[in-house]
Amino acid sequence: MPYETLSMWKVVLLILLIERSVDADEDFSFAKYYNDHMVLQRAPLKATLWGYLRNDAVTNKVTVNFNDKKYNAVYIKDTPTKYRWMVTMDPTQEGGPHVITATAGDLTLALNDVLFGDVWMCSGQSNMQFTVPSVFNASEEIVASSNYTEIRVFTASKKQSVKPEIDLLGVDEKWSVPAAESGAIGDGNWTYFSATCWFFGRNLYDSLKYPIGLIASSWEGTFIEVWSSPDSLKKCETDESLFPEFVIPIIPSSLWNSMIHPFLKMTIYGVVWYQGESNAIKPNTYDCTFPAMIDDWRAKWYEGSHGNTNQMFPFGFVQISTVGSSNDSMNGFPDIRWHQTADFGYVPNARMKEVFMAVAMDLGDPNSPFGSVHPRDKQDVGYRLALAGRAIAYKEKSLYYTGPIASSAYINTPQSIIVHYTHVVDNKLEIRSYSGFEVYCIKDGEPTWIESAVIKGVTNFVIIDNSCDAGNRPTHVRYSWRDYPCVLKGCAVYSGDLPSPPFILPIRH
Ligand SMILES: *[C@@H]1O[C@H](CO)[C@@H](O)[C@H](O)[C@H]1NC(C)=O
Ligand SMILES: *[C@@H]1O[C@H](CO)[C@@H](O)[C@H](O)[C@H]1NC(C)=O
Ligand SMILES: *[C@@H]1O[C@H](CO)[C@@H](O)[C@H](O)[C@H]1NC(C)=O
Ligand SMILES: *[C@@H]1O[C@H](CO)[C@@H](O)[C@H](O)[C@H]1NC(C)=O
Repeated sequence: MPYETLSMWKVVLLILLIERSVDADEDFSFAKYYNDHMVLQRAPLKATLWGYLRNDAVTNKVTVNFNDKKYNAVYIKDTPTKYRWMVTMDPTQEGGPHVITATAGDLTLALNDVLFGDVWMCSGQSNMQFTVPSVFNASEEIVASSNYTEIRVFTASKKQSVKPEIDLLGVDEKWSVPAAESGAIGDGNWTYFSATCWFFGRNLYDSLKYPIGLIASSWEGTFIEVWSSPDSLKKCETDESLFPEFVIPIIPSSLWNSMIHPFLKMTIYGVVWYQGESNAIKPNTYDCTFPAMIDDWRAKWYEGSHGNTNQMFPFGFVQISTVGSSNDSMNGFPDIRWHQTADFGYVPNARMKEVFMAVAMDLGDPNSPFGSVHPRDKQDVGYRLALAGRAIAYKEKSLYYTGPIASSAYINTPQSIIVHYTHVVDNKLEIRSYSGFEVYCIKDGEPTWIESAVIKGVTNFVIIDNSCDAGNRPTHVRYSWRDYPCVLKGCAVYSGDLPSPPFILPIRH
């Protein structure tokens, strides 16, 4: 056959194949976040698979074939012309690669190179979106990613909706295998992949040594209200009229609808969250909206995945880092950090169970070329988050993950105050700076916060000076109550190389 004729036949064949696959897509498909190279949730949880089937094809029952077993799908009528099918698989041990096929009549779909492991959802605003190519030592981190072929990454597109969506409205990055040359963890322009999510997953993998699936679904500049369902917003008094008109989604629940709701039908292990900077302009409701959102996501994921995602799945968050370069400014960041813990100062706590956090207020980066609100050190953030995750989400015993937690404060001598800490490694606090404490008292007739220098750290307490005027009893002490409290890893109180979270405590007399 002459060359031209051969090419022509190839073109015709190609067109036939394209048409065929378009048809197949319409008749029978997986949901948008099931593709080759993905990670499905491992045992003891049960992974779910779902997709669409066109109405006139419904007589062809869908079966999923995996590990010599056939699973018959259940159906839900979705629209007048579409059915949804769903399968819950038997618990499957970690590992792979596996091939999973789904058939309906003579139509067959396949998922290749599927691993079973733990699936983590990563959400929030720009500091979650902040990509690997933007971090310190980015080129080394991208090269090092080639060694992590058992971590798989997926990025949802930034889309909003006024109604809960069944499937994603867009995918920026299908499930991909990280490798320096594949670009899977960085396309260089903030589209993918989330650095906080990546370093969290990489640290988990180093400890767990089995596959980890990471799903990033985040949008810069967003308020928590857009990620919360109407049910969870009803639990709190919120005032959306205070939202400024940015070029970002501001309709309450609009990203819950499009970037979270579609994932509820998938079994996941847990969620990590890095958000709160935007809410610092009106921080007062965050102590309600954040814990309420966690409760609501847990309840809805349990229901959406047919009881396969744990009702109390672990939820981790990054306590927001810093903004600006002056240790004088206070624009709501201290309030958000405190409210992120439901005003306990630490997690987990009575209000926030199975919740873990990474403190990041000492990882500021005032000279970041992406703006001071976007620190480039996401390695330490991911490390601290994974450390706390191992303790809370994986119940690893004897792991130090909290940093010292202030438990009480009282007058020591008229000139000094003692602040006691729990969770101190070897009963030894490390003092890295002498500033950051303030006491609340009357000065020149006005109640005010006055700086109170650290005199010394002893075993599990620090002594700070009582800077109130003689005769004016200090009532409270607070710590690191600034947008940018200290230089890199240079706040006052540490233990085991982890910082004390910021706090406010009454002073006993
Ligand atoms: C990958 O791992 C191997 C074995 O631990 C190590 O020798 C190599 O330096 C690593 N490569 C990168 C790019 O980190
Ligand atoms: C950057 O983003 C656009 C879409 O936002 C995408 O099409 C493109 O591939 C990305 N990567 C690079 C390196 O430009
Ligand atoms: C960047 O690499 C240098 C040299 O290896 C290291 O000292 C530094 O801690 C790294 N920075 C981060 C944020 O990991
Ligand atoms: C700010 O930093 C300076 C220099 O380290 C220190 O003297 C001062 O006490 C700090 N202020 C606060 C509020 O921490």
